[in-house]
Amino acid sequence: MCGIVGYIGSKRAADIVIDGLKKLEYRGYDSAGVGLIENGKLEIIKKKGRVVNTEESIPKTFNGGVAIGHTRWATHGVPSDNNSHPHRSESIAVVHNGIIENYAVLKKELEEEGILFQSETDTEVIPHLIKSAISHSMSDIHKKKREACYLHAVLMAIKKLKGSYALAILNSDFPDTIVCVKKGSPLVVSKSESSVFVASDVEVASSHGKNVYILEDDEMVLLRSDEVSFFDMNGREKEKDPMEYISNESADGFAGNPHYMLKEIKEIPQAIHETAKSVENCFLKLPKWKLNKLKKIIIVGCGTAYHAGLSAKTILETHTGIPVANEIASEFRYSNPIIDKNTLVILVSQSGETADTIAALDIAKKKKALTLAVVNNATSALAMEADCKITTRAGKEIAVASTKAYNSQLVALYSFALYLSVVLRKINSQKARELKSKIMETTSISRQVIEMGLDKIDKTIIDIFKNEKAVMFLGRGVDYATAAEASLKLKEISYIHCESYPAGELKHGTIALIEEGYLVVAYLTDSLLKDKTLNALYEVKARGAKVFAITNQELPKDAYDYIYHVPSIGIFSPITSIIPMQIISYFTAIAKDYDPDKPRNLAKSVTVE
Ligand code: F6R
Repeated sequence: MCGIVGYIGSKRAADIVIDGLKKLEYRGYDSAGVGLIENGKLEIIKKKGRVVNTEESIPKTFNGGVAIGHTRWATHGVPSDNNSHPHRSESIAVVHNGIIENYAVLKKELEEEGILFQSETDTEVIPHLIKSAISHSMSDIHKKKREACYLHAVLMAIKKLKGSYALAILNSDFPDTIVCVKKGSPLVVSKSESSVFVASDVEVASSHGKNVYILEDDEMVLLRSDEVSFFDMNGREKEKDPMEYISNESADGFAGNPHYMLKEIKEIPQAIHETAKSVENCFLKLPKWKLNKLKKIIIVGCGTAYHAGLSAKTILETHTGIPVANEIASEFRYSNPIIDKNTLVILVSQSGETADTIAALDIAKKKKALTLAVVNNATSALAMEADCKITTRAGKEIAVASTKAYNSQLVALYSFALYLSVVLRKINSQKARELKSKIMETTSISRQVIEMGLDKIDKTIIDIFKNEKAVMFLGRGVDYATAAEASLKLKEISYIHCESYPAGELKHGTIALIEEGYLVVAYLTDSLLKDKTLNALYEVKARGAKVFAITNQELPKDAYDYIYHVPSIGIFSPITSIIPMQIISYFTAIAKDYDPDKPRNLAKSVTVE
């Protein structure tokens, strides 16, 4: 998704902003741009494609100390130079992350005032609105200070916007300032002695100063090289203290791997270990008296995070006796859910910035449900705004396709199921400890599965996948959740059409797709459901499908064409049984010459609806 940076200080702002944009590349983008103040004049350089295209177009003579920058992930209008940010209105330039929902109405009004638009974007209304508000408040100019008048105009413009926005605004009439506003999309300011920096991501912001201000919704901030001032939406100045953010990320880049995705797969054992070790501290902060009154649990998330919730449903239900429902965040937010103070809504998210999941949190809070965020980014909006949180310790995940975050989400959710069952006195602490030690064991087991996978997943296995037009993934119970995640992994980086189905549902329509040579991947790690899934395998084989079975069970030889063995860890098997398909997906993308870290059309943090 779009990324924003801005800098004011004594160094060459163009360099700092370009460096920031490169650090934000992992979010996914299709064009980039920079706005700078050069000798008091606003200059804009923006290009379709990689950040380096913009970088190469910035004149070497531009040495000013104020700039904003942007990576764009197209929503309104194709990727093009014109649609790239910043967008400008005379002296004003704006970069934006989010979506302006009422832009069409605002654009019409502005066009009626005679304004000519240069792009197809929703964002371009913003600089024109600010410019127009400045002109209208000029009558007041004698009463107010010029700068206060400018800030007032920004607020007037903002009040007309519906939707989500993180904005950085440059105005050559106020050449030593950047104004930022946040609603819905993330923005973090960092301050060092002689400069300020702003970015969409706390890691990137903190690389310029450990003292960071994480903006809240409906906050405006005025940045100068030596000062940061916060305002509410009525223009009242407010106090805000910085927090010290010490990154626990090592700056080792690929750590000797060709891609982040492979590096992150190799980091799964550590992610599991760190998460399993630290979740108990998070549980200590949960309100036990509220947990004791729960009647219902809903687990909400998107994509991989949704699949983690699906996988946790059975363990939660069997160990707590509380009914659990899984919801896709974008559906949940508009579903008028029947929830109340006796409902626990668990929001699962790696980034903690996914717009739909944040909106789901808002609904849950409005309806007085207890909200629990399971997040990897401890300073994210979701982490800050939920009633309580469990932090997964996967470390920063840069590859767009989620791997180690998923394994850690399973560890966090399964561990929570055990904790809750002790609180509810469904199992005793001794039993919970025994089960918890099984979860801890998945650290070493995942290490073996990865080592074996990197050794065993060779050209023969990748050849099974790489030329397929379509692959069907089957499983039942928790194996269905793993199949769904495996299907997402393969499709998002290899662009092979993948479907996932509960194995028993196949014959109600989908089996019509099966024909000679169709590849079916089946997960069979749940001994109770194995025979039921086997029935489905015989049904697809009878219609000519090739079956690739991933299992910890003994299977009859006529049920599969290829078998991939994974270790059994009872109910916790999904933590490691996903790993072979994470590895296969990675190598299939490589075999097809695709960049697994930056799949087409995708963004790492989906901060728009
Ligand atoms: C797939 C993937 C996405 C994310 C989804 C939610 O590999 O990464 O499906 O899981 O966009 O993102 P978070 O977890 O950041 O809310």
